Amino acid sequence: MTWFDSARFGMFIHWGHSSQQGVELSWPMVGGNATLPESDMTVAAYQSSAATFNPGHWDPAALARTAKALGMQYAVFTTKHHDGYAMFHTKTSDFGVEHSPFGRDIVGEFVDAFRAEGLRIGLYFSLIDWRHADYPAFIDEDKPYRFGRSRPPTPEQWERFLADMFEQVRELLTNYGKIDVMWFDGGWERAPEQWKATELEALIRGLQPEILINDRLPTVGDFETPEQFVPAQAPARTWETCMTLNESWGYNPSDTAWKSPRQVVHTLCEVAGRGGNLLLNVSPMGDGSIMPEQRAILGAMQRWLSGNGESIAGTEPGLEPWQFYGPSTKRGNTTYLHLLMRPYESVTVRGVPIKRVKRVTVLASGQELTFTTRCSIVDSWFNRDPKGEVTIALPEDAIDSLATVLALEMS
Ligand code: GLC
Repeated sequence: MTWFDSARFGMFIHWGHSSQQGVELSWPMVGGNATLPESDMTVAAYQSSAATFNPGHWDPAALARTAKALGMQYAVFTTKHHDGYAMFHTKTSDFGVEHSPFGRDIVGEFVDAFRAEGLRIGLYFSLIDWRHADYPAFIDEDKPYRFGRSRPPTPEQWERFLADMFEQVRELLTNYGKIDVMWFDGGWERAPEQWKATELEALIRGLQPEILINDRLPTVGDFETPEQFVPAQAPARTWETCMTLNESWGYNPSDTAWKSPRQVVHTLCEVAGRGGNLLLNVSPMGDGSIMPEQRAILGAMQRWLSGNGESIAGTEPGLEPWQFYGPSTKRGNTTYLHLLMRPYESVTVRGVPIKRVKRVTVLASGQELTFTTRCSIVDSWFNRDPKGEVTIALPEDAIDSLATVLALEMS
């Protein structure tokens, strides 16, 4: 068991120079993909905003405080997306923030700010590099983009590319102190042997023995990363669902398909109830600030989490699905019932040791609720610790507009 097994909630940050143009990260330069909108942008037009990157409103301390206030336990930042732009200082290339008008090491500032708030640090790193000459770089003639059919490098090119890619990983895991998660992406473009996944893993674990690596470095992986959905049943090993607030990872004002705060809170409850983590994405704008739509969703969630967060971070999955109509979590002797559907007067929990129920409260207010218990007559006579049902009366005014959480305390 590690901290990650019960972290439950983290912040994903997708940001790059292209956020100045208000377009998704990387994909517009290859023409989009099956799930992201088509784009007729040329590669040069997409990459042109690297020259003007100067995010004067980048305030990592404020973002870290937001994450902390939401009860998030960790954050994962895009150090280099598929477009190859380094948000950190690197000796391998001059295509990065070091050579922008801004100049500062954004990854370093992210790490310092989030660590100062006590959050664990994750680094997103794309194996794909559509700008590296030896990858080889993606050009307009390569369009349309086809999964698994990218232009192959010569063996010499690939050796040079790998040397730089390994060096970037070494820089990221050497220059910023303890890194808790290495979050790869883009593995689909090459075979595991081509990435030298085993050697890369050895390098990583040598530099950071306690680090966790996601499953997108082919053949490697301490945890699974379902994307944009909640698995129906918990995967057998540790897992984390990553999810956007609209449909885009990067700042994209044309995408107005916002999830409601209630939807996101429900997703968080569903994920926690299955024992997973939710890595919720924010998309800084080109100037580094967070758009009002995202701030509004996070603000509404923060209101809910300030009263109900106890039922999320650091918990284990609670009851079995047949015991209660909704997700639930537990910590010690307390079971947290997440009411994601509006109850009619009462809710019932089944298959619990009814004589040990001490108290039921509305978690956010502490309001104590009355309850009755039942089990089979024979059990009630002869069994000192019978299992049965607990029916909890729930007044209308106890219902929260996002999700009501009840705390069931057992002795
Ligand atoms: C996908 C996309 C990428 C995004 C990632 C996040 O792999 O290619 O744009 O960063 O998912 O999980």
